[in-house]
Amino acid sequence: MLTKADIVGRYLPNHLVFGEQAEAFAPSNIALCKYWGKRDKVLNLPVNSSLSVSLAHLGSHTQIRPSSSGKDEVFLNGKSLPLEQAFAKKVVSFVDLFRRDQVLPLVVDTRNNIPTAAGLASSASGFAALTLALNRFFSLDLEDTVLSVFARMGSGSASRSIYSGFVEWQMGQQADGMDSHGIPIPVFWPDLCIGLVKVSTGQKAVDSRSGMQRTIDTAHLYGSWPAQAAGDLEKLHAALQSQDFEALGATAEHNAMSMHATMIASWPPLVYWKPESLMAMQKVWQLREAGIPVYFTMDAGPNLKLLFQQKHQALLEAEFSGLEVVTPFAVD
Ligand code: DP6
Repeated sequence: MLTKADIVGRYLPNHLVFGEQAEAFAPSNIALCKYWGKRDKVLNLPVNSSLSVSLAHLGSHTQIRPSSSGKDEVFLNGKSLPLEQAFAKKVVSFVDLFRRDQVLPLVVDTRNNIPTAAGLASSASGFAALTLALNRFFSLDLEDTVLSVFARMGSGSASRSIYSGFVEWQMGQQADGMDSHGIPIPVFWPDLCIGLVKVSTGQKAVDSRSGMQRTIDTAHLYGSWPAQAAGDLEKLHAALQSQDFEALGATAEHNAMSMHATMIASWPPLVYWKPESLMAMQKVWQLREAGIPVYFTMDAGPNLKLLFQQKHQALLEAEFSGLEVVTPFAVD
């Protein structure tokens, strides 16, 4: 059976060359058609294709440099992490794929500029930025699709964060997963806004990785998910081509709710919502009843991400206090 090291090893030179330091940025992304479930846990291959929009300048900056302490060091937002901490462990084992058995202690310094209040997942931008920084540090000069494959092996959603704008992560079919990577969708949507509704920023009890596994193992409803996702993906592509905002928003919301239905049908149940999440959903539905085209999506957590057009920004900021607005296509 193929391992991640086998895949990365195909692209490494016999002797790694490295410089003084390298850094890279990758944006965070929000899925409009969600990735939920793996068909291969080792290589991180998904059950379904997904589609997201990257969040422009909001994401992770990662710097890599040789460590003078003789040990690996992992920093997150300026704080040194114990190497047994979950994120640090994942980072070190990802870096090991590249340096293999070469003794090369490194410092990996990641800073997220995602508003901490937004409760956005940082593993997508974190692993994408780490992959880009490793590509530079070791002068590998890899193609974007290969970088996306590597980022995917760190965290599935990171495969999409290699690109800006709308991105489809094609599930692929090959056993080695080389056809399971992000592809940019050349659609520009300048008035699209994403509003981050903060319900809670606390650590979630069950992370996405274990949540999706529990769903596959225990939720009978999961059987309907691949077809739902495939249909939604088609609808999203059509909405992007025709710039039909309502179709885009409705499909994204329906997709998120369908994913949450499979989570709720798991055992023990996975309910990521808080009472305030439901209150915010009801507010969105009331606003729609009143003629304001606003939709939401949610990941494996209690926070909502609103989708709306720029002309409604002021109204929505008044309705949702503390709304953090991101414009993925704004030119500044
Ligand atoms: C609900 O990419 O964090 O946000 O591949 O196990 O690292 P791993 O999972 P991750 O899962 C993200 C799930 C999601 C939906 C999405 O972003 O598509």
